[in-house]
Amino acid sequence: MTDVAPHPDRLSNQRKPDPCSFVIFGVTGDLTHRLVIPALYNLAATDLLPDKFCVVGVARKGTSNDALRDSLMKGLRQFATRPVDDAVAKRLLECVTSIEANPRDPASFDRLRERTEKLEANRSTGGNRLFYLATPPDAFLPISRELGRTGLLKEDGGRWRRLVIEKPFGTDLASAKALNAELLKIVDEHQIYRIDHYLGKETVQNILVLRFANGMFEPIWNRNHIDHIQITVDEKLGVGHRGSFYDSTGALRDMVPNHLFQLLSLVAMEPPARFDAHAVRSEKAEVLAAIQTQSEEDALRNSIRGQYLGGKIGDTVIEDYRKTEDVEPDSTTETYVALKLNIDNWRWAGIPFYLRTGKALGTKRTEVAIKFKQAPFAMFRCTPVDRLSQNYLVISVEPAEGIMLQFNTKVPGPTITIDGVEMKFRYKDYFKAEPSTGYETLIYDCMIGDNILFQRADSVEAGWQAVQPFLDAWKKAGAKGREFYKAGSEGPAGADELLKRDGRSWRKLG
Ligand code: BG6
Repeated sequence: MTDVAPHPDRLSNQRKPDPCSFVIFGVTGDLTHRLVIPALYNLAATDLLPDKFCVVGVARKGTSNDALRDSLMKGLRQFATRPVDDAVAKRLLECVTSIEANPRDPASFDRLRERTEKLEANRSTGGNRLFYLATPPDAFLPISRELGRTGLLKEDGGRWRRLVIEKPFGTDLASAKALNAELLKIVDEHQIYRIDHYLGKETVQNILVLRFANGMFEPIWNRNHIDHIQITVDEKLGVGHRGSFYDSTGALRDMVPNHLFQLLSLVAMEPPARFDAHAVRSEKAEVLAAIQTQSEEDALRNSIRGQYLGGKIGDTVIEDYRKTEDVEPDSTTETYVALKLNIDNWRWAGIPFYLRTGKALGTKRTEVAIKFKQAPFAMFRCTPVDRLSQNYLVISVEPAEGIMLQFNTKVPGPTITIDGVEMKFRYKDYFKAEPSTGYETLIYDCMIGDNILFQRADSVEAGWQAVQPFLDAWKKAGAKGREFYKAGSEGPAGADELLKRDGRSWRKLG
């Protein structure tokens, strides 16, 4: 596996990236307007774009430079995370050139190459290029093949060429392997930047720091002290206008092998020997590969699928999932999933990882809750307390970014009464960070060539390997076993049962 060399910029003061051209495929689409341009704007506003820079905006149907710039400006006004300084925005958008190219028309890619080279010469960008595929996944390969054929992706003379793709990386193990194999015919692994936007979140990156920059957690971070781990990504939003994508995808594919497994791998990985892309990504891949591959029978026993029915979330009325535009009226697609997984290694043998995620739930919450084992001896048994509450360490990603430790304490008074209390650290109390899109770090890292926060092919495949038995078992089971839950609720009843049968329960909101 190839990774780039250790990157000092992450630890020290940030430097400006090398001159480069930033080529966006799908420049007229939602992702570009909503996230990519606002992130480039934030980088421009903090002086973190290269001095010599150009943006090539590629779409299948070309527009004039002015029309494209106007549309990106409108998007920026709508989606910027900080007040837009017109001068900065203007400077950025002046770098944008609109070019039409369609992989079905190879000649258009020859023209793209010619025009890109001319722009690079005019702007003195030196030939470094980043290709950002903000397109539907079925366009990844056709575009990459054309970029390969025209030589646009070939690294030579010290000039770097990078390819950025967004999840989903395949729809199951076989398709993920095929996608990786095909991409690797065109570029080297070190040129591919697979984005999972969860790794752009500060709190997610902080899991590594919490574990490995503090001496006190690691000694207890194992099966001797931890009872189990819960990973929750609950969303309030329903499927909205994404019916056609979602109905063929479902909650498991949409969230688990990517976002939830990013959280899982950071929490469960072994300490890397160094803070560099190779060491960190290797440990993440190792732990994902150690997730027990379940038989289909076990997969059915250890999973819960739910689909939402109409309900109310706050003042918003949500209709049945099956009534959503572009969703089959008898769809069996899950909008909620809960899983019990085990990791087969010395650190975690026998310690369950419970994962859950769903749409149209009553609360928005993303967290990792680590539950520690009960005190070994119930010394307070003869007091009014016969059962102490267990200790939780909660890494809260959303909505409140922070870390919480729950422990037992004596309630003031003459009798020994014990209660669970919470010690809370909230980012916003300590740090004044400018609101960001979460993409700035990722885009900046692509430009400086630091791939520590990007998924490597082996991790992607290990993730699919772990979820494949669930996909297979559910496909055979069809509607059998699929539960319903009301929009605005906590999800299907079976999710509680999954833990209850092990004598456990999900952490309630504090
Ligand atoms: C996306 C999924 O990758 O992540 C969406 O496709 C989901 O369905 C989203 O809503 C969740 O992201 P976040 O950052 O809001 O937790």
